[in-house]
Amino acid sequence: MLELKDLKLSYGNTQVLNGVDLSVNRGDVVSIIGPSGTGKTTLLKCINYLAKPASGTIAFDQVRMDYRKPDSTAVQAIRLRTAMVFQQFNVFKNMTVIQNVMDPLVVVQRKSKEEARSIALQELERVGLSNKVDSYPSQLSGGQLQRTGIARALAVKPDVMLFDEPTSSLDPELVGEVLKVIRDVTSSGITSLLVTHEMQFAKNISNRIVFMDRGVVAAQGSPAEIFDTPTNPRLAQFLNSEHSIQ
Ligand SMILES: Nc1ncnc2c1ncn2[C@@H]1O[C@H](COP(=O)(O)OP(=O)(O)OP(=O)(O)O)[C@@H](O)[C@H]1O
Ligand SMILES: [Mg+2]
Repeated sequence: MLELKDLKLSYGNTQVLNGVDLSVNRGDVVSIIGPSGTGKTTLLKCINYLAKPASGTIAFDQVRMDYRKPDSTAVQAIRLRTAMVFQQFNVFKNMTVIQNVMDPLVVVQRKSKEEARSIALQELERVGLSNKVDSYPSQLSGGQLQRTGIARALAVKPDVMLFDEPTSSLDPELVGEVLKVIRDVTSSGITSLLVTHEMQFAKNISNRIVFMDRGVVAAQGSPAEIFDTPTNPRLAQFLNSEHSIQ
């Protein structure tokens, strides 16, 4: 469904992606793990062209693009089929919860307000926020803000959900409620790519784990292969260090 080949990207003199290959099948839940600064967020952003690789190719079903010859029709087509959930919640402070969820439906998808409202209410129920629809972001907890962001992303019915460390800026006691929503989303069959430092969670919900290190995919495999029998020495070292900080 989604195939990235040989992605290369630098910021100034720093080579961030050094030839990344990644393929994702429909229904996959792929978790991307790896040390800080290794290019995980950048890789997710390449998919919707928020980060612009100097070379490499993307194929998203029938849509194909060579990053050396970016094409706005292809970028637009891919953006319409993906939705991203950011670490710093993607909600607008001047809009209520339901307005946040309706916004892309009305502005991007040109749905009527009535239809957008009905979809938004369904998605807010799915993330457990039916009682907060008319609240403003300043009146919400971090977990509720992130669940609003997830409802906003789900509402456009994307083919692929991209989660970038959705729980890393939350207080520890709020992490569980957001992980529960993500688990519900991924188990509903929607193809998902998740960058996370929640190793146990990644192990439980993913069918594949991708380990990125220094701008490349250094190892990938089933959760058991990656977490229980890591053969790559950098991966083994990374897992040890993650365990020691938990
Ligand atoms: N817009 C940017 N301009 C310049 N450098 C950037 C930019 N975005 C990222 N970088 C640099 O690119 C490298 C990879 O960043 P990226 O955010 O992809 O890492 P990451 O694997 O997501 O790390 P973390 O686990 O800390 O989130 C880092 O060295 C970062 O400083
Ligand atoms: Mg990151």
